[in-house]
Order: sequence, then structure tokens, then C-alpha cells
Amino acid sequence: QLNVLHKFKGILFSTMSSKELLNSLDSFDAREDDVFLVSYPKSGTHWVAEVIGNIPNTKITLTSPIEFGDISKFEELKMYSKRRVIPTHLSYDILPRNIKQKQCKIIYVVRNPKDIAVSLFHYYRDNPNLPCIETWDAFLELFLRGDVVYGSWFDHVLSWEEHKDDKNILIISYEEMKKDLSKSIKKITTFLDINVSDSEINKIVWKTSFSEMKSSTAKENYNPNHTICALTSNRNLVFRKGAVGDWINYFTSKQKRVFDELFTQRMKHSELARHFED
Ligand code: PPS
Repeated sequence: QLNVLHKFKGILFSTMSSKELLNSLDSFDAREDDVFLVSYPKSGTHWVAEVIGNIPNTKITLTSPIEFGDISKFEELKMYSKRRVIPTHLSYDILPRNIKQKQCKIIYVVRNPKDIAVSLFHYYRDNPNLPCIETWDAFLELFLRGDVVYGSWFDHVLSWEEHKDDKNILIISYEEMKKDLSKSIKKITTFLDINVSDSEINKIVWKTSFSEMKSSTAKENYNPNHTICALTSNRNLVFRKGAVGDWINYFTSKQKRVFDELFTQRMKHSELARHFED
């Protein structure tokens, strides 16, 4: 895996996140009104970003991720004069210190890890910035060991667990967005202190549907610098199936049992895990 990935603090990163940048994370200068959009990969980051991007009349800019690029990244982020919404897949432990000290607003997106494993398996196959893993069985083993980009899903979610009730953190799940998108949009806008009318919410619901996001991405020329995930500048790779429960088409009953055992072992005290169901 190591030709396109490298390790930082024991966690695998894509070479699109330079070592120097990762080593300098604590020198990142957060602003008090920054909003961080945080998730393990494939949890629904682009979806939440699109919701935020479609809120009318806001003075916000969606930037590319903190960990995308080289050390000049932090200088680039200084150029934005509007309120910044900054995506990242970093775990709590390695998130720049400044963000925690300033208690910036953070939206943490969670999703059923079985669906994440399936989604990431396809992303590994389609994305030239990730290693080629031939089979689902081999990929699932790596996923369960945490030998995938951004490390173990379990470690990532558990790193956020003890902060789930912090006033500055909003937890939102992919599954709740699927169930009731307008309610989730209200949750997001309320958290950001932005007033949005019901008709505006309906418009956002329409704009951020899976089919609309997928087809408009295919039609429009997106500026690659506006990438949301540090693993690609090709937005077309992001939209696959957009469903809850697709894992059932991939997991054998033995794989499900092994996964569930590990899940119970690692997540038994987790309240974040209650945000999604199998
Ligand atoms: S990334 O690249 O790691 O930041 O990926 P991320 O955006 O977090 O997650 C990608 C998955 O989210 C699905 N997706 C959506 N589902 C429903 N509705 C909308 N609007 C939507 N937009 C993106 C996307 O298809 C990926 O999931 P899978 O299961 O692979 O389809």
C-alpha cells in the first residue's frame, strides 16, 4: 500500500496529504467563527457540505480540507475573508490544537461502518490515489485491522465519543439525513445560527438529493481546488449508490458475525453508535 499511502502517527494517509503538512497541523491558526466538517471517509461529508453550500444569503466559504496539499495550505486558508467551513477526515486526537482551544463549531458526521466499508472498498478501486485491493474479502480484513486510509473506523469514532455532548459539536448521521432530510437541514442551520424559511429548506432538500448532486456533478466543471475530501480532486468518484444498508449485498454471514463481534467489543459503551442501525 505504501506507494500511494504513508504513515503519520501510526495512521495511513494518502500522499495528497504531505508529511510536512501533517507534522505542522498544530501550527494551523483557527478563527473563532470557523466551522469544521469532520468525518471518517465515506460517511456523507459531501452531502453535508452541499447542504451548507446551498444555504441562501450566508457569508460562508467552503474550503478544501485542512490536510489536503502541502505546507502552503495554511497560508492559502488565511486568504479567505468570509466565515470558513473547513472539511477534514482527521480524528479528534490529531485535529489541530487551536481548533479545540478556540472551541470552534464542529459538525461530526457518522454512518453505519458496514456501509462505510462497502463504500470505501469501491473508492479504493476507483480512485487512482488509493491502492488497488483486488477483492472485497481482502479489503474487509484491512478495514477491520484499521490498515486503511485514515486508520481504524473504530478509533476515529471513539476519538470523538467523549466530545459528543460538547456545546460546540453537532453530531449528524447519514441515516438520519436519509430518513428526514429537512429535519437534518434544520438541525444544521440552527446549529450555525442561520435562519432559513421552510420554502428555502425545501429547495435545499431538492438540491442535495443524491440524483441531483450526482447529475449536476457530471454536468458541471468543478474546480479541483474545491475538493472536500483530501483523497481526490475528482468529484465524480464520490457518488456511487447513496443508499442505507447496501452492506447486505457484500457481507457473508461469517463476515457479518466477525464484524458484529468486533463492533460489540469496541462500541459497547458508545452512544455515537446509536445514531445508526443495521
Ligand atoms: S469522502 O469522499 O470520503 O468525503 O466521501 P463522503 O462524501 O463522506 O461519502 C460518500 C458517500 O456518500 C454518498 N452520498 C450521498 N448519499 C445520499 N445522498 C446524497 N446526496 C449523497 N451524496 C453523497 C456517496 O454516494 C457515498 O456513499 P456510497 O455508499 O458509496 O454510495
